[in-house]
Amino acid sequence: MSTPEHVGEGGYVPPPAPTGVPRASVELSLAPHAAPLDEDATEQVAGDIGPTGRPLRFVPDPPLVAHHGPAKILAICNQKGGVGKTTSAINLGAALAEYGRRVLLVDFDPQGALSVGLGVQPHQLDQTIYNVIMERNVGVQDVIMRTPVDEMHLLPSNIDLSAAEIQLVSEVGREHTLVRTLRPVIDQYDYVLVDCQPSLGLLTVNALAAADGVLIPLECEFFSLRGVALLIDTIEKVRERLNPKLEITGILATMYDPRTLHSREVMARVVEAFGDVVFDTVINRTVRFPETTVAGEPITRWAPRSAGAKAYRALAREVIAR
Ligand SMILES: Nc1ncnc2c1ncn2[C@@H]1O[C@H](COP(=O)(O)OP(=O)(O)OP(=O)(O)O)[C@@H](O)[C@H]1O
Ligand SMILES: [Mg+2]
Repeated sequence: MSTPEHVGEGGYVPPPAPTGVPRASVELSLAPHAAPLDEDATEQVAGDIGPTGRPLRFVPDPPLVAHHGPAKILAICNQKGGVGKTTSAINLGAALAEYGRRVLLVDFDPQGALSVGLGVQPHQLDQTIYNVIMERNVGVQDVIMRTPVDEMHLLPSNIDLSAAEIQLVSEVGREHTLVRTLRPVIDQYDYVLVDCQPSLGLLTVNALAAADGVLIPLECEFFSLRGVALLIDTIEKVRERLNPKLEITGILATMYDPRTLHSREVMARVVEAFGDVVFDTVINRTVRFPETTVAGEPITRWAPRSAGAKAYRALAREVIAR
């Protein structure tokens, strides 16, 4: 793997022109070789009945921003595993960057899936978010990396982070560790997306304590609603005790299959339970997402005109408008 390209200590350094050189993931023999043909997506327009059963609200293209920051911090959170947290962090981040927003993705899961999804081999990194949290002489700027997307940076993690959860327990102000870590760079970004691990432990509480909003991906599966009450309860406790500004930005239905009655029924129940908190944008189940992980790129670059890329752009517009 090439040496990680770090963002300089003096703050934001514009990324170099993309060279088209694929990142570390090419060493995988099953890496796809070329972007597949673009999919035909049925375009949905405002006023149509969307998959949520509501008429789609018109969300205009966001205006460009004149200057950047301070960032809005969004925690992407659900203690259920495999619901699309990491996929949503990468692709929402990339879509926000397409709209001219400067984005920092924070890998806050010791599995390092977010880092892998952007072509980084986490076990080869000398320094990760763990070092920033635990070692006073490591600055966050020293660890932030560039990604295949201009204007989107990554604070990577690896398995070391699992030790932090235990080591932090005895620290003063342990729930505010992440917000302290991010403070030096918050003015350089418009959005910080924190990809949480599938648990409600101390790392996730740190993400909630740092966040302005929570984005909850919810798989369109029968058991997906189990545990959401506990998640919302945790969010409310964090709001009361640690972070009064915390809001639920939205619930994102993922892995939706419009052909199955089951998916449509789950969708209807989610909308019935959560109403307007549910984003109009729904992410369909498609093999394109696992492919992008292997490619180490967001879907907005891997298959820019695919339905999945369009959906994450629509989500970005909704997020900016909320
Ligand atoms: N819309 C989708 N359609 C099909 N597959 C998807 C979709 N979104 C994500 N996936 C795939 O499902 C798996 C789990 O997704 P992802 O890693 O984003 O979930 P997660 O909530 O971050 O998981 P974990 O809880 O383990 O961190 C991955 O292999 C991913 O490529
Ligand atoms: Mg994940």
